[in-house]
Amino acid sequence: MTTRADDAPIADAASLGDLRALVNIELARAFSAEDASVAPLGRAIDYSLLAPGKRIRPVLALAAAEACGMAPAAVAKVGAAFELVHAYSLVHDDLPAMDDDDLRRGVPTSHKVYGEAVAVLVGDALQARAFELVATDDDVTPAARVDVVALLARAAGWRGMVGGQYLDIDESRTDHADLVALRDVHDRKTGALIAGAVEAGAIAAGVDAVQRAAFATFGRELGWLFQLVDDLLDATGSSDALGKTPGKDARDGKVTAVAAFGGVDALCAAVDEQLDRCLEAAGALPDDGGRLPAIARYVHGRDH
Ligand code: IPE
Ligand code: IPE
Ligand code: MG
Ligand code: MG
Ligand code: MG
Repeated sequence: MTTRADDAPIADAASLGDLRALVNIELARAFSAEDASVAPLGRAIDYSLLAPGKRIRPVLALAAAEACGMAPAAVAKVGAAFELVHAYSLVHDDLPAMDDDDLRRGVPTSHKVYGEAVAVLVGDALQARAFELVATDDDVTPAARVDVVALLARAAGWRGMVGGQYLDIDESRTDHADLVALRDVHDRKTGALIAGAVEAGAIAAGVDAVQRAAFATFGRELGWLFQLVDDLLDATGSSDALGKTPGKDARDGKVTAVAAFGGVDALCAAVDEQLDRCLEAAGALPDDGGRLPAIARYVHGRDH
């Protein structure tokens, strides 16, 4: 393949800084307290939401729109909505009833600071506000707003992220080490929001159905790459770099990509192959995907 995607540089903090800055402005605004009585809840939400995450989902939405010729600023609320749902998923994922994690984004988890009941409400509020942001977004057409709301609901819900989280904790399953089954779990719990963010950026930019499907395909391949690397980093990363506790998957008896591929070396090879699939999928996008291939390389090479 000799498309521009092959030659794409690796995106780094600087080359995505403009997109992250646009998103961070929307995130900081999302829970600015107008109502004094719930201001403490707003502060608890901001504690998790504004902690230093990579903002990969919103950045993908903005980069997808940019590849279609739309100004990234016009998609900032759509991107932020995916980050809100993602942040909610992390707060709930860390709860004692789920992964029982103490550290997230380099700081103690929401329930460690505010207690479990507030952490549940933080997640609930993040999710509801995400849909409000899209539904009231004047930067995109009413038709695109409805399509993005439907897409976000599907990606977040029982067929998407929540369904994947259910399968992830379902101890009655016996097919954990099976690669097809593992991909199904990962496509839902992680891939759905990542692919959804890419597709939403394209929808906001007004693409046709064929282009929309091409963005969805790229997003799905990137989602699998993203969670393969997440599983790899859980086995090989450090708490300082990750900002979360490594080694938890094995300790909790989760069968991850490390086990399903037969060890770290085999998984590293699979991660390289998956990057190639992402770059090939980017070749089918307008402007060869603009900054999306560089973001795929960043996801491939990330250490946190
Ligand atoms: C972590 O997501 C949870 C997964 C879905 C694997 P990220 O690695 O994107 O976490 P942040 O947003 O950078 O904290
Ligand atoms: C969580 O997957 C995915 C969601 C939050 C939906 P993990 O449980 O592997 O994520 P980390 O490793 O805690 O970030
Ligand atoms: Mg989990
Ligand atoms: Mg977890
Ligand atoms: Mg993980």
